[in-house]
Amino acid sequence: MKHCITIADFTPEQINHILDVAIALRDQRASGRGNDPILKGQTLAMLFEKPSLRTRVSFEQAMYELGGNAIVLSNSEVGLGKRESVADVTRVLAGMVDGVAARVFEHTKLTEMADNTSMPIINMLSDYSHPCQALADIMTLIDEFGRDLAGRTLTYIGDGNNVALSLASICSKLGINFSIATPVGYELPQTEVDAILAHNPAFKFKASTSPADVVKDTDAIYTDTWVSMGQEEEKAQRLKEFDGFQINDELLAQAPDHAIVLHCLPAYRGIEITDSVMDGPRSRVFPEAHNRLHAQKGVLAVLMGNQ
Ligand code: CP
Ligand code: NVA
Repeated sequence: MKHCITIADFTPEQINHILDVAIALRDQRASGRGNDPILKGQTLAMLFEKPSLRTRVSFEQAMYELGGNAIVLSNSEVGLGKRESVADVTRVLAGMVDGVAARVFEHTKLTEMADNTSMPIINMLSDYSHPCQALADIMTLIDEFGRDLAGRTLTYIGDGNNVALSLASICSKLGINFSIATPVGYELPQTEVDAILAHNPAFKFKASTSPADVVKDTDAIYTDTWVSMGQEEEKAQRLKEFDGFQINDELLAQAPDHAIVLHCLPAYRGIEITDSVMDGPRSRVFPEAHNRLHAQKGVLAVLMGNQ
């Protein structure tokens, strides 16, 4: 495992290894002794083209707790691909730090970085995917349902976006069934679904345009914003087209009693999810957010700490 750019690049064994390391580091931290300094002397450069709370804090704190250092760079100072080419930025950083994590618009910036260095490149979200979020989400399912999730079902309701794609991909690798309801025109790209199914013909994937159709038989219901970063101009149109896709008490009443609710956050309360669901007994959104710290430690420890 050299980089963490997209879930599709990982084998199930590699995903399970990252999760095992993440869970072990979480247990070690919970023991009160803190983590071993497995990244002592190492630095992660973190580059943001878009805003972030969870991703920034989880990676920076993870580096600190593992004995390393993090440098946070905003795009107004770096100008990735504008002030300087992606390749040149990467070559410069490679002589000074031990890994680069980036949140970008165009996914190809991440693959271009990886093509220009042997140090780890980590995807902190691109328009295409959000693999580190998906790892934390699976940790949260493990916390609820146990280590073997094969045969469980994750249901995603909303936009067929970066978060949805990484979830579909990780579910396909771990034997988790995945169902998704989106408005017409907001489905996961068919080429991506075809590629996932080609790699995992046994993957149980269901797509619908009706939320009621996918919540009846599930273990977890997931949603994300209807307006991702960079889509602000489409907001009015999207809010209209996603009408009926809100996670609310009426929809939740149609799901099995044990089904939990997840959201990668930030949540737009009253839009894609109601307060009563977010703050209700079936919500796991805050433990899910906290698992970002542990999942990101797993990624860093494996890629940079030889774990
Ligand atoms: N879920 C997530 O990636 O949150 P941030 O955008 O705050 O990092
Ligand atoms: N789909 C959202 C996720 C935010 C964490 C976005 O890309 O803005």
